[in-house]
Amino acid sequence: MKVKKIAVIGAGVSGLGAIKSCLEEGLEPTCFEKRNDIGGLWNYEDTPESGRPGMYKSLTSNTSKEMTAFSDYPIPDHYPNYMHNSKLMEYLRMYTRHFGLLKHIQFQTNVCSVRKRPDFSTSGQWDVVVETDRVQKTYIFDGVMVCSGHYTEKYLPLQDFAGIEKFQGRYLHSWEYKHSESFVGKRVVVIGIGNSGADVAGEISRVAEQVFLSTRRGAWIWNRVWDHGNPMDATLFTRYNRAVQKLYPTFLLNRHIENKLNARFNHANYGLLPEHRILDHQTVLNDDLPNHIITGRVQIKPNVKEFTQASAIFEDGTEESIDVVVFATGYTLSFPFLGDDSTILDSQHSLFKLVFPPRLEKPTLAFIGIIQPAGAIIPTSELQSRWVVRVFTGLKSLPSQSEMMAEIKRRKRSKAKDSVKSPKDTRRVQYIDYMDEIASELGVKPNLLSLLLSDAKLAKEIFWGPCTSYQYRLQGPGKWPGARAAILTQRERILKPLRTRGLKHLGASFSHLFWVKSICVVFFLLVSVL
Ligand SMILES: Cc1cc2nc3c(=O)[nH]c(=O)nc-3n(C[C@H](O)[C@H](O)[C@H](O)COP(=O)(O)OP(=O)(O)OC[C@H]3O[C@@H](n4cnc5c(N)ncnc54)[C@H](O)[C@@H]3O)c2cc1C
Ligand SMILES: *[C@@H]1O[C@H](CO)[C@@H](O)[C@H](O)[C@H]1NC(C)=O
Repeated sequence: MKVKKIAVIGAGVSGLGAIKSCLEEGLEPTCFEKRNDIGGLWNYEDTPESGRPGMYKSLTSNTSKEMTAFSDYPIPDHYPNYMHNSKLMEYLRMYTRHFGLLKHIQFQTNVCSVRKRPDFSTSGQWDVVVETDRVQKTYIFDGVMVCSGHYTEKYLPLQDFAGIEKFQGRYLHSWEYKHSESFVGKRVVVIGIGNSGADVAGEISRVAEQVFLSTRRGAWIWNRVWDHGNPMDATLFTRYNRAVQKLYPTFLLNRHIENKLNARFNHANYGLLPEHRILDHQTVLNDDLPNHIITGRVQIKPNVKEFTQASAIFEDGTEESIDVVVFATGYTLSFPFLGDDSTILDSQHSLFKLVFPPRLEKPTLAFIGIIQPAGAIIPTSELQSRWVVRVFTGLKSLPSQSEMMAEIKRRKRSKAKDSVKSPKDTRRVQYIDYMDEIASELGVKPNLLSLLLSDAKLAKEIFWGPCTSYQYRLQGPGKWPGARAAILTQRERILKPLRTRGLKHLGASFSHLFWVKSICVVFFLLVSVL
């Protein structure tokens, strides 16, 4: 049989996982990347061109390394748990080298259009037009993996801000924000409290005269450093926690988490308390925000009602003079190369399991990594890719169109019930549930019960430990012999970069405790026997 040719659009983390998955299943990938390097969002550029992801210089991952790693390539044990973008780039380069991905990537090549071939209903093939140095070329592909990211098309709702045209100061989107240099001594308002808004406001506040962080909705704030100093996601995203959560009614669960976050700082006193419950909407991860608020460098404000020449008037009637406005208002999904074929993407972005367009005659196009997991993207998009290539090769099939549409409706309905209305929310997924869902399609979901009988030690770590992606490499297609060891050593990799000052008494206190415990056990045994 002829080897199938697959186009991968974009060489960010999703594209890299897609290329690797194609190679794993014997497909022939060609990745087109408009920049001259890999990494997408994580590859920092001082002056990005429009249509590319843009990030600030200090961007540090908000997911910890064990949760962020590709499933068959753990992040080196000495790397910090939360990585600066340059460190994450190092890891991506190692991954790319290790699996020989570079030779499958064509850099400085923009994908201009992706169209069905005339015989699509039988061949499932695509015409892909790409452009390098203003020269266009058309290729025929058997499958397309769209990995172009969703942080490139700025959402800048100027129409919602009366008077912005009169405003004499500077305004910019957070996409353009790089570092705080040009904000020294300025009075700045940051609009919107997503992860970027909170980061940018905090960073600017160190040098600005005053920063105002304006939010319509408020937000729940998590922190990276969790109880006992462990990484937040690695502590909370466990199968045990997920099982307990499923037993709880939602309102109790909401209350429980909100109480925990309020114990760090009271969200009402800090002007951040939202009307929505914590599980209903995207949350924010930021370690420093409460510090900036308590030191007065950042003031939380309601929505801006209007701008004047030199000030912002907020909805509570207060007015502040302002030099710069930063719109941290997010991004919109955009796939300019797809044209307006509604069998690929309708206005609702209906996708089967957030991956496959349900109305295509042949399942030969997939979207990778356009979800909003409350967890890391790398393992999620990687697992999607592993499933997609099995569908491309014909080893897995999709249900009928009507069944897929029914599933999409079900997902939307359950979201509409408990979400604040926001387009992003329909793509928000519960990390472990979603990973298990895709893993079941692929046949790689770990079977805890049978593991408990055959390998209790491993089963225990899978149940109690961080739900890392290595566990989706224990069996089935793409099985990796190193998976078991990776799981059993994950906690060591978390601690290694922290324990950089050797403490002798640490080991000693363990053995000390061991003896105390043993003596107690012997004592109680003796007492009960006598
Ligand atoms: C502030 C911020 C912090 C984040 N922190 C985390 C985190 O800590 N952990 C985490 O897991 N996720 C995080 N994310 C989510 C982030 O989206 C993912 O980590 C990841 O960058 C997504 O990768 P991607 O490959 O899907 O998209 P991107 O990184 O956007 O890469 C897409 C690539 O496609 C290329 N491309 C696009 N269109 C074309 C075209 N037509 N032709 C050719 N090439 C094209 C682009 O040049 C780019 O290189 C964060 C996002 C933001 C905005
Ligand atoms: C990390 O930041 C991105 C971008 O704002 C966000 O989509 C994602 O949900 C965040 N993840 C966590 C765990 O907070």
